Amino acid sequence: MQYLNKVRTQSPVKKQKIFPKFVIMKKVLVEGEDYYLSDKDFRIFTEKYLLNRGHCCMSGCKHCPYGFNKLIDQIKKKTKPRTMTFQEEILQGIPTEVPPAALYDATINHAPKRKEILSAEEKILALRNALRYFEPQQHETLIPEFKEELEKYGRIYMYRFRPKYRMYARDINEYPGKSLQAKAIQMMIQNNLDYAVAQHPHELITYGGNGAVFSNWAQYLLTMKYLGEMTDEQTLVMYSGHPMGLFPSHKNAPRVVVTNGMMIPNYSKPDDWEKFNALGVTQYGQMTAGSYMYIGPQGIVHGTTITVLNGFRKIGKEPKGNLFVTSGLGGMSGAQPKAGTIAGCITVCAEVNPKITKIRHNQGWIHEVIEDLDLLVNRVRKAQAKKEVVSIAYLGNIVDVWEKFDQENVHIDLGSDQTSLHNPWAGGYYPAGQSFEESNRMMAEEPELFKEKVQETLRRHADAINKHTAKGTYFFDYGNAFLLEASRAGADVMNPNPTLGREFKYPSYVQDIMGPMCFDYGFGPFRWVCASNNPEDLQKTDDIACEVLEEMIKTSPEEIQQQMKDNIQWIRGAQENKLVVGSQARILYADAEGRMKIAKAFNDAINEGKIGPVVLGRDHHDVSGTDSPYRETSNIYDGSRFTADMAIHNVIGDSFRGATWVSIHNGGGVGWGEVINGGFGMLLDGTNEAEQRLKSMLFWDVNNGISRRSWARNEGAMFAIKRAMETEPLLKVTLPNIVDDNLLN
Ligand SMILES: NC(=O)c1ccc[n+]([C@@H]2O[C@H](COP(=O)([O-])OP(=O)(O)OC[C@H]3O[C@@H](n4cnc5c(N)ncnc54)[C@H](O)[C@@H]3O)[C@@H](O)[C@H]2O)c1
Repeated sequence: MQYLNKVRTQSPVKKQKIFPKFVIMKKVLVEGEDYYLSDKDFRIFTEKYLLNRGHCCMSGCKHCPYGFNKLIDQIKKKTKPRTMTFQEEILQGIPTEVPPAALYDATINHAPKRKEILSAEEKILALRNALRYFEPQQHETLIPEFKEELEKYGRIYMYRFRPKYRMYARDINEYPGKSLQAKAIQMMIQNNLDYAVAQHPHELITYGGNGAVFSNWAQYLLTMKYLGEMTDEQTLVMYSGHPMGLFPSHKNAPRVVVTNGMMIPNYSKPDDWEKFNALGVTQYGQMTAGSYMYIGPQGIVHGTTITVLNGFRKIGKEPKGNLFVTSGLGGMSGAQPKAGTIAGCITVCAEVNPKITKIRHNQGWIHEVIEDLDLLVNRVRKAQAKKEVVSIAYLGNIVDVWEKFDQENVHIDLGSDQTSLHNPWAGGYYPAGQSFEESNRMMAEEPELFKEKVQETLRRHADAINKHTAKGTYFFDYGNAFLLEASRAGADVMNPNPTLGREFKYPSYVQDIMGPMCFDYGFGPFRWVCASNNPEDLQKTDDIACEVLEEMIKTSPEEIQQQMKDNIQWIRGAQENKLVVGSQARILYADAEGRMKIAKAFNDAINEGKIGPVVLGRDHHDVSGTDSPYRETSNIYDGSRFTADMAIHNVIGDSFRGATWVSIHNGGGVGWGEVINGGFGMLLDGTNEAEQRLKSMLFWDVNNGISRRSWARNEGAMFAIKRAMETEPLLKVTLPNIVDDNLLN
């Protein structure tokens, strides 16, 4: 006899009518939910109650005489399967059943709609390409959706396939797999897509507006699955976000080889990116986005601190009490005031966007916001008199600051600019003399007039800077195309006596500061991530790195003492600066010897069980990894700055010397077609093999670039490569002979 009947509630009113005799177990029955009624004692049970309790009456008989057990089985069958664990989801890859459609989450920062560039025929090709990832029975459901994404956003992101688990760098042991190295790469990928880290997480963009980890979610799912199942006898091959597959290799080969945006050179213009990215066959990997090595804002803050410190040295001044004027509080530029404070100077940074200014103020990266130029002048004079360390945002146009400080004779010691002049006509640079809102309107409605206003402002901007430099200010271009765009606007920025590589009146930050003071000696942005993701491990690695550098400085040659001191100071204050966002990562500038010694000390500590595994890497903006004629290699004056042999050699050399993964990209920082850059990742697991790998690969990774810089006759590099040859007898580098200028002239 069946004592339990299923009833679906329709509304609370009806419920009272249907169940007059029953005791209501829950005060409110949910409309549309299934309930089960017991004839025996007139009670109502929810499915959840039955499943949890396993029986209907207080006695809880194992074999229910009323057929209750059978019912439970039925409910179990019809209820959804249990949710998969994180590891099961990774190993599932692309689900065989189409998951529910995803709602567009307006609370997330999304990538802008991309330019509509594909013809009707090419749009069909883009769809055909996207559907390659899915089984044929899914195509009918997916076609209209992918078509809509392409129309609406200019790309097919496959939002529906975005995983529901939280995206962040977990403890390495939480990832599935047979290869610890592959688990480390899963962790690094998830960090690049963490909401706290990534700029447009749903579009798989880590930074820079278009710096992609993958082009769509199918690529992510498939890549994570491959990493979750691969062994140390295989290598995963990544073609610009697309996982081509696992290929047999060997245990000393990289586990992953990544290329991003590698094009036949004639097809490397910005519109080529738009087209081929929309077709789903390539992507812009920026530097550390598509190579899984981004560590949040810490990298840019550290790099900017080193630039500001060395900028003051270049002019023979202490930062304390001296003034640095610049602009931009955006993605990268926002690091300037924080870096100025760490360096110890007075920073004035202009920003036209009130929202961005507020964010930076709330974040604590700027101390004060001033909107009135007279107040600003008074505040700066006071800070100069009292030698304060203070960062001030001027909410307004940078040109007004340069002009006002000129009229009032406020002395600027160091000056630069980090507005987004690589993108001048679409919001990268705002004209003076009109409001922020008016500029935004004009940009969309009167683009030609807007362009005129931008160029007029650039001419004023350059004139004001020229007046200050005539009074002793040192100005440098910060890799944002300021001098390039100002020259195109007809501003007075050209060098009256140009030489190759010195076309402009002012140097770039690499030409005068980072190149000769850091890169030529091998100092560059070495970084590591504690794979346990435990902050205590990071603290321990900070201490280890600090001890190593303190020991090294005792015998370091005079030429690199300053860099050593700066980085010891940085690592000592690293915890205080609280710059960790996402994975437990740290950056510092070290030369080949420093990188190898720090890495070896980490490997020893892992071996002794003091810390968990550590992933080593670096920014591509480094000694050897990047060929970029107007940035990283702008201080190469033998004509070779337009070649890209160094970056290519770097990645090939790293790959057979023990890197866990390597990557080589077209684009990054200065744009598609303008730079070739590469990087690596290496897992330290405390073994002897890891020690061999780190020694072999890190030595090459730095000395490759030093040898090229030395061949270009850069003094610091000639010094550094000779020193490297003294420590390693197997290194034999071709050295340049210097010709007497008098003979040539
Ligand atoms: N040298 C480096 O190491 C380095 C690193 C990263 C970026 N960059 C370059 O620096 C530039 C800035 O990068 P970002 O990520 O901060 O860009 P961003 O667009 O996020 O920030 C630029 C900011 O400048 C503000 N701005 C524009 N015109 C202004 C004006 N006239 N006065 C005052 N404020 C103005 C904008 O409102 C914006 O907030 C880019 O061109 C980038 O390529 C250089």
